[in-house]
Amino acid sequence: MFCSVGLSFLGLVVLTSFLWAPLLILNLPFILLGLLVLRVTGLSHRLLLVYYAIYDFMFYRSEFLRKTLWQVMYDLMVYLYPQCKWRCMNYGYASLTPDGKTLDLSLVDEYERFPLQMYMTAASCQGAFTSWADKTVVEVGSGRGGGLEYIHRTMKPSSSYGVDYSDNQVEFCKQSYGEIEGLAYAQGDSEKLDQVKMLEGVKADLIFNVESSHCYGNFDAFVAQVSKMLKQGGQFSMTDFRADTDLPAFETSLLSHGMVPVMSNPLETSEEDGHHPQCDPGLEAGRAAEDLSDR
Ligand SMILES: C[S@@+](CC[C@H](N)C(=O)[O-])C[C@H]1O[C@@H](n2cnc3c(N)ncnc32)[C@H](O)[C@@H]1O
Repeated sequence: MFCSVGLSFLGLVVLTSFLWAPLLILNLPFILLGLLVLRVTGLSHRLLLVYYAIYDFMFYRSEFLRKTLWQVMYDLMVYLYPQCKWRCMNYGYASLTPDGKTLDLSLVDEYERFPLQMYMTAASCQGAFTSWADKTVVEVGSGRGGGLEYIHRTMKPSSSYGVDYSDNQVEFCKQSYGEIEGLAYAQGDSEKLDQVKMLEGVKADLIFNVESSHCYGNFDAFVAQVSKMLKQGGQFSMTDFRADTDLPAFETSLLSHGMVPVMSNPLETSEEDGHHPQCDPGLEAGRAAEDLSDR
């Protein structure tokens, strides 16, 4: 699929070259002169800053635009990379040991060791479940579904639900894991979980969220939904990246919806040995406040 899209694009470029090539050659001196002026006057640096500001706004600050752009990107990624071997899309987690391994994995899972280690860290970091047998877990932003499938297969909760905004990815999950008992995926918006049919009546023991929340238009609306769906005393665990300046709003959001932080590990390394705290970079774990009455 990827090859055919690439080849079609190349074909189009070659076929239309009689249109753009002469224009490019004629204008090349002006383009080069313009670039030189930008460089000498220092304007290129300013333009770069404007570019960064626009990029930051589009992908990390806007509401509607950010949501739509990420959705289009993830839909497109499944289209371009339909291989079912690729199941996770996070940066991965490694312990600071020579091999970084925290899990014993089968050969198949070894292929995505570090993203799966991230999943296990996020899903079980609080270590509060002695048994998962009767637990209901929900992943918001489940992506290509492999992380949730791994948690479901190894921890064996009674039910696991994955929700993702990208239709194509959810379709991919249904095709890849649709037969597995107790595991289900549905399309839905993190900010409107109460409108996801699959989750009707679901009260979760654990809701987790792996490197997805930076795509949401309104993080606070997401936390409000999580808070509603958690059982009393249930857990919310998430890992993602944030600019330092955004951390206060991030923390306020969690606290204002009744999350009692039980652990928070910003990505830090100690000066002595380059070792960071026992758990996940940027992991926030919260436990729903016992006295929230709307559960
Ligand atoms: C970096 S990927 C991480 C996927 C998965 N958690 C993993 O680690 O493999 C971010 C995911 O968040 C999903 N996402 C983005 N905005 C969302 C939203 N508003 N509601 C639900 N999922 C969303 C994307 O479609 C994408 O699958």
